[in-house]
Amino acid sequence: MELLKVENLVTEFNTDYGKVKAVGGVSFYINEGEIVGFVGESGSGKSTIMLSVMQLLGDSGKGKHHTISGIVSFEGENLLDYDYKSSKMCKIRGGKISMIFQEPMTSLNPTMKIGDQLTEMLRLHLNLDKASAKAKAIELLDLVKIPNAAARFNDYPHNFSGGMRQRVMIAMAISCSPRIIIADEFTTALDVTTQAQVLTELRNLVKGLQKTSLIIVTHNLGLIARYSDRIYVLYAGKIVETGTTKQIFGDPRHPYTKGLLACVPRLDQSASDKRLYTIPGYPPDLLNLPQHCSFYERCEFADKECGQKKSPELKVVCEEHMAACYLCAEK
Ligand SMILES: Nc1ncnc2c1ncn2[C@@H]1O[C@H](COP(=O)(O)OP(=O)(O)O)[C@@H](O)[C@H]1O
Ligand SMILES: [Mg+2]
Repeated sequence: MELLKVENLVTEFNTDYGKVKAVGGVSFYINEGEIVGFVGESGSGKSTIMLSVMQLLGDSGKGKHHTISGIVSFEGENLLDYDYKSSKMCKIRGGKISMIFQEPMTSLNPTMKIGDQLTEMLRLHLNLDKASAKAKAIELLDLVKIPNAAARFNDYPHNFSGGMRQRVMIAMAISCSPRIIIADEFTTALDVTTQAQVLTELRNLVKGLQKTSLIIVTHNLGLIARYSDRIYVLYAGKIVETGTTKQIFGDPRHPYTKGLLACVPRLDQSASDKRLYTIPGYPPDLLNLPQHCSFYERCEFADKECGQKKSPELKVVCEEHMAACYLCAEK
């Protein structure tokens, strides 16, 4: 069942230099119990999409800092119909859809004990009394595998290591039994081993909850291979390819996806060929996007026609596998 459906989301920032088209008409869906990856270079619009869905960009509208349009369907309603300060959106944020960010120190209060922060949130969202909130908080810390949870309840955020702080963030994110958890680059600051441990735990937790879905946002395509069911590849504010993880890794069609895959280190690469591929060039200026395919200038497969035709739309490759490339029919 579809839990979240986003249609033609456009988010623009009004700056002194003009309109930055951070999200240029993006449509996607998340099924119940699914783990979906959003991947793309830094600046491709991943965070702006998530913050737009959550209405966390603040006030929007004419003459304001930014404008959002499109439809964000969740539980039969369009979330964009509600003001970001409305009680509806406040209930959704932290209750039904929760977010885990990269830097937990910005989300955790450094002057408050971890246990108190968790308890406060549980009391606010679940209406629990003090004793049951504390019991539930310890249970949650235990669940995210924080050793000695009852004792660590009284520790401050700075007493925890980076990986442990992320576990606290996961505990907070799952505390109110959300329908969707959005994890935006949340393991980027961790070493690879801890990254894998934390992601594995988050995946197992989400799969155990069955009806909860997880969105993993990352610039690292290699990272989500093991965790996601489906993937959306973003480039310059648009989805350029989507499909099951198997389709994306086994049969990538967009040259950008192929480039991202070539950037992933492989164990079977010979020692003489250790230099990792990087996609040449830079993403286009979002203040002044070209009419043609936004990947044209960097594309090694593009022919002259690609530079003359308008930017390609997503086209079905097979089943849920789609790519926005005129040459995507060719392997
Ligand atoms: N508050 C803002 N004001 C102006 N431009 C912004 C703002 N936030 C993001 N952008 C621009 O929007 C684009 C997409 O950014 P972002 O969504 O953060 O990308 P990602 O998360 O994929 O790295 C970037 O070009 C960025 O500079
Ligand atoms: Mg981001």
